[in-house]
Amino acid sequence: MGNPKIAIIISSTREARFADKPTQWLYDIASQRDDLDLEILDLRDFPLPFFNEVASNAWALSTSEVAQRWQKKVAEFDGYIFVTAEYNRSITAALKNALDYAYPEWNRKAAAFLGYGAVGAARAIEHLRLISVELQMAPTRNGVHIQGGDFFAVWQQGKPISELTYLLPNVTTMLDESVWWTNALKVAREESIAVPT
Ligand SMILES: Cc1cc2nc3c(=O)[nH]c(=O)nc-3n(C[C@H](O)[C@H](O)[C@H](O)COP(=O)(O)O)c2cc1C
Repeated sequence: MGNPKIAIIISSTREARFADKPTQWLYDIASQRDDLDLEILDLRDFPLPFFNEVASNAWALSTSEVAQRWQKKVAEFDGYIFVTAEYNRSITAALKNALDYAYPEWNRKAAAFLGYGAVGAARAIEHLRLISVELQMAPTRNGVHIQGGDFFAVWQQGKPISELTYLLPNVTTMLDESVWWTNALKVAREESIAVPT
């Protein structure tokens, strides 16, 4: 079996976003492994309109060209790591919209999380875990949380994110778990193991 393809999805699209720092940090660490193939998916490259289709694409083909391009891209991957901000105790509207714009493409794939914010986006990630269940994804137990003083030091005081070395074992655990579930579900999908209805 070849390496699983895992997308790192950037949840924030705003011009002044912090998201690029944790995304690059995670990408650089994860790229050193030889058990996964990685790609960064930036929602900025998929300027989706606010959901305006007759139904989820589980039931009706989306008419938006960007949505079709997004769905095709999401379908390429075996698993996802969401790099998420926390906006008013939940995920960004841009990420929720992007999640809503696909359905079968997410199904039976693993979802892992890296959050940043005052509480490491813990509340956003809990919401994201619930959403991922409805999308028939398998959310991992372990997330990485860049929080509190660490977050503010990197965000506002110029501390290099690479100095957060104590988080590295946590990143490894999250990636191990992500790869395990991604592989397990890839085998099940490829062997067409009967899907419960
Ligand atoms: C609309 C909005 C709501 C926010 N709500 C929260 C929040 O609930 N919890 C939190 O820790 N930070 C909150 N913040 C602060 C963000 O953690 C901080 O702005 C972070 O940089 C956002 O990620 P981004 O820069 O990648 O978009 C909020 C920021 C915005 C713009």
